Amino acid sequence: MGYSREMLDHKIIGIAYTGSGFNNCHRHFPEMLEAVKRGIIANGALPMEFPTISLGEVYLNPTSLKFRNLMALDTEVMIKAQPMDAVILMGGCDKTIPAQLMGAISANIPSIQLVGGPMMTSKFEGERLGACTDCRRFWTKFRAGAVSENQIHDVESRLATTSGTCPIMGTASTMACVAESLGLALPGSATIPAVNSDRLRAAELTGKTAVEIASNPILPKDLITMRSVENALRTILALGGSTNAIIHLTAIAGRAGINVSLYRFNELSDTTPVLVNLKPIGNHYMEDLYFAGGLGAVLRELKPLLHLDCPTVTGETLGERLDYKCDYVDRSVIASRNKPFDAKGGLISLFGNLAPKGAILKRSAATKELFETVGRAVVFESLEDLSNRIDHPDLDVFPEDFLILKNAGPASPSGMPEAGYLPIPKKMLAQGVEDMVRISDARMSGSAFGTVILHVTPESAVGGPLSLVANGDMIKLSVSEKKLDLLVSPEELEARREKLDLIPASVDPLRGYEKLYNEQILQADKGCDFEFLLPLK
Ligand code: FES
Repeated sequence: MGYSREMLDHKIIGIAYTGSGFNNCHRHFPEMLEAVKRGIIANGALPMEFPTISLGEVYLNPTSLKFRNLMALDTEVMIKAQPMDAVILMGGCDKTIPAQLMGAISANIPSIQLVGGPMMTSKFEGERLGACTDCRRFWTKFRAGAVSENQIHDVESRLATTSGTCPIMGTASTMACVAESLGLALPGSATIPAVNSDRLRAAELTGKTAVEIASNPILPKDLITMRSVENALRTILALGGSTNAIIHLTAIAGRAGINVSLYRFNELSDTTPVLVNLKPIGNHYMEDLYFAGGLGAVLRELKPLLHLDCPTVTGETLGERLDYKCDYVDRSVIASRNKPFDAKGGLISLFGNLAPKGAILKRSAATKELFETVGRAVVFESLEDLSNRIDHPDLDVFPEDFLILKNAGPASPSGMPEAGYLPIPKKMLAQGVEDMVRISDARMSGSAFGTVILHVTPESAVGGPLSLVANGDMIKLSVSEKKLDLLVSPEELEARREKLDLIPASVDPLRGYEKLYNEQILQADKGCDFEFLLPLK
């Protein structure tokens, strides 16, 4: 490759590069890569980028989560196999950050995350638009006949108009903030918009920092501890972050041998205020968060609740990072801890005979009037069944019913898609119903909202209690008690279990990645990682 001997004597900084024609969120990566490289070269090391799998959320079939572990394995193996003294992880779109962190923790060489940053918003008829939170809102109006075909096409073309990740507090934004709060990314880097020149400066500085950690190694496993994971959980809660982030953080922690308990998560949730007013639960967008003070301003408010002695990739502790006075914070976007947007965290776990190992509810995005309710189950056996019947005029459904979706968990043929946000049936929309309790073993997009109970574990495809729910059963939800119970006698459930016919993962023999996935996939409470990728005991 024409490197001089002198050049090859320098430290080598690998750059796990995820630019891809199939990843619209990463289309500014070539420019960011240049900035990273100049930061490395100017500080006396040699940059070597290498491609890994890139997961562009919108193109992957059946769902991007199915490939997160594959990307994590690729990242880990390529870090280990190639000669490098440190690695920069360039990611952004939903699954890329967790995949890179999982891989880097398992490889355990000095590593630093550089995220792509959020895209900018756009406008339609004077109204601000940003990715799928607004898409969902307009799509619901379209289905109800309140928005025309031409209008919905215009909205569609204006939802994602610059490079970068979805500009709301969805999964990508939440995971960027998780990386920063874990200490694996530079302070202040999570929220900088993708197209802002500050992002290039952060990229350059990331290159410089990678050179420093190559000489004075700080390893991912030094940074990922129970205490830093709790900091990240509190961050997710204060942000009103994505439900997906719980699965990803569980998987990231799992690579360091740390178990995330959903019971502990509930304790943290009850003592962590929601401080950020961002869509989908609030009004603003990521660029507003950046200009309001960024994640640093949020973490400074959380300081009394955080483990400030956690080390970070720059060598300082989290407390030292936060130990400076910020001149300006926009309180319409980032609340003070004394006047939070909500006194309790945005997410909780529910337990009960319907979800013995837990389910997740984003209470900050849910309808409070539905928190203490008993509803009749309207059951959809699969995604196909859902799409065939949800809008059928004969569907037996009332506003106070609970919509149930089975067979959409990690071990199901669909691989846990973001289908937990079941559409409100058309006949309910026509009556003006805006929200209903929805329960499934699927996930939900970080941009979605509603009283949506997700990640029911164990899932129905492996015979979890969800598989036993029948039309007309009564289900009790209590958010105050964090309970989710199927009000059917144990004898009746046992009788149903004897007749249970599980949907097979595939009717055809499996080979390749499908086979590996089906043999190794763990449940949501284990982060949906592969069993063989967990650390050896
Ligand atoms: Fe990439 Fe939303 S599609 S972050």
